[in-house]
Amino acid sequence: MIKTENRYFQPGFRQNMEEKELKNLVIEGEIPDWLEGDLIRNGPGIVNVDKPMQHWFDGLAMLHKFSISKGEVSYRSRFINCEAYQAAQESGKISYSDFATDPCRSIFQKLQTVFDPKPKITDSAKVNIGKIGDKAFALGEPLMQIQFDPETLESLGVFHYEKAPGSGINTAHPHQDPHEVYNLVVQFGAINHYKIYSMLEGVKELASIPVLEPAYLHSFGMSERYFIIAEFPLVVQSLKLLFRFRPFIENFKWKKNRGTRFLIIDRETGKLKTTIKTEAFFSFHHVNAFEVDNQLVVDLAAYKDASIIDHYYHNRLSSTEEQLPFGRMERFIFDLDKSKLKERKVLSEACIELPHIDYQSYHGNKDYRYIYGCGINPENRNEFYNQLVKIDVHTGQHSTWYQEGTYPGEAVFIPNPDRKSEDDGLLLSVVLDGKQGNSFLLILDSKTMQEQARVHLPHSILFGYHGAFFEKN
Ligand code: CO
Repeated sequence: MIKTENRYFQPGFRQNMEEKELKNLVIEGEIPDWLEGDLIRNGPGIVNVDKPMQHWFDGLAMLHKFSISKGEVSYRSRFINCEAYQAAQESGKISYSDFATDPCRSIFQKLQTVFDPKPKITDSAKVNIGKIGDKAFALGEPLMQIQFDPETLESLGVFHYEKAPGSGINTAHPHQDPHEVYNLVVQFGAINHYKIYSMLEGVKELASIPVLEPAYLHSFGMSERYFIIAEFPLVVQSLKLLFRFRPFIENFKWKKNRGTRFLIIDRETGKLKTTIKTEAFFSFHHVNAFEVDNQLVVDLAAYKDASIIDHYYHNRLSSTEEQLPFGRMERFIFDLDKSKLKERKVLSEACIELPHIDYQSYHGNKDYRYIYGCGINPENRNEFYNQLVKIDVHTGQHSTWYQEGTYPGEAVFIPNPDRKSEDDGLLLSVVLDGKQGNSFLLILDSKTMQEQARVHLPHSILFGYHGAFFEKN
């Protein structure tokens, strides 16, 4: 029989999940006794309502928590209880617009949209988990974030940008330093703006840059002195978003000839210091940025264009014929005195996505060395992310964890409290076992990429995006 659908497709992208609470999960191997805390992950939990969602970035959010204590592990999952979730429960229909899937609309409703140009955008914040001050948030791209109780995973309320006008998106990748939390908002209106806000003690606008055709931006960069917006040429005429006849991302067009523009903003003044143009490329994730004398170094996981977004449609992810484009770690070195690109180089040939570093200790640090992420094994190329990769930025070498038929999600790094080196610690990743049809929590030694332990779940978890570790104090 010819296989036409990948075995991970149904459990990884197509099955609705249920809320669960499980104690004393089965552990293979041994969990180091210093590891105490909760891994909380975000991602889609419901992907079928009246019709299936279309894209990996669609779905109603579910939080998953693995609590690790004294070598034992328990698990809990909860849907985010937001308006989009409640409406889907009550009506049995997709009721809010998502990334690449809109509700079914009658002709009457389509006409109505023209007169009332306020499509209901999903508030189901499913992309990331953020600790803002002492509060835990589920983070998404629409301009509202959901606060939740990290103990029970119950939804507590919505965080709004009070002063930011209604229409726009923000990134699910805010930055932080010891004093503040920062995020980038792309605001759509008569005049569109890129805005940087601080958000720890109320919301404050730090920078505002008008833009004619704003880009789809999933993250931004921050160094000691600068905010960095890498503006890829995947852009939108924002009126199309206000009157939205097509799902959100389908309004954006790839305009290669524009190239990519790096907008470098002075953090002190909020003013644009310079704009530097490079060849067109695309990225979801900035990884690190730092300054060395008059040079600014920006590392991100880059693609040659934005076709990766099309590859994440379910109809393509299901096919055994498709190959995902490789994301690669690239470094851009800018000469700020001359306002130009000095050097662009590939840091590693390895495919990487959902990149992760020890942000707390090494973000903005010019000596940082290691990036962890998901990748694709070149021997098994026609699959979704099927290995974990660790890139050594200094040598360009990489090492992997690979087990045929398993599909790991983002690897979250937790430093050993007595560590002697940057990579001394553990990586936690939720992995789908395509053969067994269930998921497990993988615990790797981040120095050697060797397996320390795996914790079995009786069920599978849909492929999610980002998570965070909450240490027990
Ligand atoms: Co992301």
